[in-house]
Amino acid sequence: MRVVRLASEIDFAGWREAARTLRGQGVAPDTVIWTVDGEGDLFADPEPLAAPAPGGFTVSREFLELAEDVILHRSAERFALLYRLLWRLAAEPNLLRIATDPDVARANDLARQVSKAAHKMKAFVRFRTVSPDPETYAAWFEPAHRVTEAVAPFFARRFANMAWSILTPDVCVHWNGAQLAVTPGADPADAPGEDALEDYWRTYYASIFNPARLKVEAMTKEMPKRYWRNLPEARLIPDLIAAAEGRTNLMVAKPPTEPSRRVIRAVARASRDAAYDGMAPQSLEEVAAGVDACRRCPLYREATQGVSGEGPAHARLMLVGEQPGDQEDLAGRPFVGPAGQVLDRALAEVGAPRAETYVTNAVKHFKHELRGKRRIHQTPNPSEVTACRWWLDAERRLVRPRVVVALGATAALSVFGKAMPIGKNRGVALQLPDQSQGVVTYHPSYLLRIPDAEAKAAAYALFVQDLRFAWGLAA
Ligand code: URA
Repeated sequence: MRVVRLASEIDFAGWREAARTLRGQGVAPDTVIWTVDGEGDLFADPEPLAAPAPGGFTVSREFLELAEDVILHRSAERFALLYRLLWRLAAEPNLLRIATDPDVARANDLARQVSKAAHKMKAFVRFRTVSPDPETYAAWFEPAHRVTEAVAPFFARRFANMAWSILTPDVCVHWNGAQLAVTPGADPADAPGEDALEDYWRTYYASIFNPARLKVEAMTKEMPKRYWRNLPEARLIPDLIAAAEGRTNLMVAKPPTEPSRRVIRAVARASRDAAYDGMAPQSLEEVAAGVDACRRCPLYREATQGVSGEGPAHARLMLVGEQPGDQEDLAGRPFVGPAGQVLDRALAEVGAPRAETYVTNAVKHFKHELRGKRRIHQTPNPSEVTACRWWLDAERRLVRPRVVVALGATAALSVFGKAMPIGKNRGVALQLPDQSQGVVTYHPSYLLRIPDAEAKAAAYALFVQDLRFAWGLAA
């Protein structure tokens, strides 16, 4: 037996070096024990690994990215599983394409759980003031997997101008406005006490809670109970659920912007030749996992998570928006904010249950810029719309809706691959190459930002008319 002792639970560089050496020397996976420094004397001190055999070998970027995620899982099997995969790749170079292979399936599953833990951390870390001068914040968080160091750069970008620490049982990360530092894990007792920020979070949460769309099961899925303990807003949940029935729409308009001519031209040009690359997703679950892990454009960096579509797997009607907004980004679901409330109201007037439609967006990550603490919507640029079209096309291919409704100009651009002025094209059936019918109409956020009440009501009436037409067409 060979014993490999890694420097830490997330020592990817150490694992990689040892794994390369072992495979180079032909050491079979079932003769290797992987352990981590500080795990006691259960295993004898390892013999130092000899230098790797000359010549070496290369592995795909895809495998390395998978391994980087899997290493962060808390499962004890992860080092051995990855080495087994690396070993098998020598004889089976296409192994990672075989999603049903037990080792590949297990590694993908671990990576998915890690990615979910990272997203939950981005969404659920709550900072408290430690000192007002200099302004310093700290948060206590218990991640499901060892994602703290991987997620820290996200917080450094998002809260670049603050000094903050995130304390976790595994490790603590600190940002001083210029540099990230890592120190050993902390005790919950080290977490700062409750302060006014808690009220801020509770107010925010109460304002985004939409009683009309209350689904307790989905809600606990998005905000699993394991995180409630450290979430100030979690205390509101029982009351909000109890009061849900009596509450009506809370609407806060946040206008989107229309794509510029430059965007329209560039997307039209790029989409003419857009080819499928990589493995096309075979199910909506694969789309959701892929969107979440998508790196096809840089938007994932600042977003909390990728937001894929939702609805029945074979809905007759697909509704396509522009991109998730602030609230969708946090909730991980499309159209749950103000624009979603307009859409819900219009669908209800048409008699088209939203639950029978598939609702998605042209771009799956929230593009925004930070102004103070506010995240302000930004219109996706040509390459972002084009990159994301791959996911929308996959959703269309899998759901096979009879009718696709493009809500607004960006959605129309993505659905039709060319500019479709809304005023000129709205409300009629337009043939799409996949034999579905396309309908374009206004984006609900556009309706929200029309200042004149009469004009707003008139545009809303046309919007309802277009949705009614599309729903009838899909019947
Ligand atoms: N606007 C959109 O286009 N999509 C959403 O999901 C939310 C707001």
